[in-house]
Amino acid sequence: MRTIIEPFRIKSVEPLRQTTVEERESYLREAGYNLFLIAARHILIDLLTDSGTSAMSMEQWASMMRGDESYAGSESFFRLKRAVDELTGFRHMVPTHQGRAAERILFTVMCKPGDVVPNNTHFDTTRANIEFTGARAVDLPVPEAGDTQARLDFKGNMDVAALEALISVEGAARVPLVMLTVTNNSSGGQPVSMANIAAVKQVCSQHGIPLYLDACRFAENAWFIRQREPGFADLTPKRIAQKMFSYADGCTFSAKKDAFANIGGFLCSNDDRIAQQETNLLILTEGFPTYGGLAGRDLDAIATGLEEVLEPDYLRYRIASTSYLGRHIADHGVPIVEPPGGHAIYIDAARMLPHIPPHRFPGQALAVALYRHAGIRSVEIGSVMFGEAARHELLRLAIPRRVYTQSHIDYVVEAILEVNACKQEIQGLEIVEAPPFLRHFSARFRPIMERE
Ligand code: F0G
Repeated sequence: MRTIIEPFRIKSVEPLRQTTVEERESYLREAGYNLFLIAARHILIDLLTDSGTSAMSMEQWASMMRGDESYAGSESFFRLKRAVDELTGFRHMVPTHQGRAAERILFTVMCKPGDVVPNNTHFDTTRANIEFTGARAVDLPVPEAGDTQARLDFKGNMDVAALEALISVEGAARVPLVMLTVTNNSSGGQPVSMANIAAVKQVCSQHGIPLYLDACRFAENAWFIRQREPGFADLTPKRIAQKMFSYADGCTFSAKKDAFANIGGFLCSNDDRIAQQETNLLILTEGFPTYGGLAGRDLDAIATGLEEVLEPDYLRYRIASTSYLGRHIADHGVPIVEPPGGHAIYIDAARMLPHIPPHRFPGQALAVALYRHAGIRSVEIGSVMFGEAARHELLRLAIPRRVYTQSHIDYVVEAILEVNACKQEIQGLEIVEAPPFLRHFSARFRPIMERE
């Protein structure tokens, strides 16, 4: 059969609420044309993020009932620890309330002012947590990643020659760790190959620098390796994931992605001394090391999710359905970051809307147009989010896991193609009010015609 079906059936449903174009226009005005400021009840299909938005399985809900809420030594912790041990092999694991809490603890322990942390591409909270310690976050994507149209298998890779050059300029003593983000969210959700992980590890080993994975979407990355990298087609996703982790000395993890949890994360390390310092900090801000800011039931949901996410039927459907959205809009003339990523499709808004210059925010303008037309929420990743540092003007359509069906995605395709058909009418925006930091969350805009 060619039809890829959702590998689940639905036993609990959440109604969707329809709104009219006029209602959406007024919500947009009230929200200052910022979709973060629109109430979720006014959204029909929410593609703002794939983070914390998964549908949990019946097994996950059942494990939540087994949650042990003991302050210390909870059974739920040991269930999670066994699942993480089996998957990653790291010596130490502490739970955290989400990924960025793991990042803050890791970088507080490992970084000092003047240090440099390379990554294929930092996610924004990762960069912010590094810079908060006074260290510098440096992105080293492969040069091909800059071309949104290049259809390459592993556009998420790190530029290994650039890593070597950076270490020789800065000196290994100023590089406390190297990170690889799998998949590479900020660069289109593109995967990193096993060969690249191995090559980066080799450079790290030569200089005595630990390698950490930002492992939020490790299972999706493992599936791409299985599909695309010679020698992996016959291995299970679990075996591939284990091999990915085997090259690393530790990881940060947001369980809100590839563990289908609505909250949670963890931090792993092989270094006893670092792990002790991390645990001390954890107690200050997250909680006792066997719960780390989470309820026992959350730990159980994550443990079960980590197993489910590696099921081949799930991953086959997941990657195929993301690609379905990407191909159906791209093959009808909407420029996307090629090839489709694992968790999201990114529209190249600068290419789609050449009449809107970067300072009029083409990605934001497209997000507004898509919401107004069809009630779909997406997120700008461009000059609104990154200011002058933006390298592209993208619109991200992130797909929550196990939440929307094929007909929802068909509706999204239809809406995008309709917006594309009258794209000349889309107006740029100007900022009327914005805080100095994280302006994408709260900036207010107004539509502007270029001739004004
Ligand atoms: N690293 C990556 C690659 C991420 O995508 C995220 C979150 C984090 C770290 C932080 O994890 O949210 O649990 O604190 N990404 C979400 C997104 C927010 O929409 O892409 P967190």
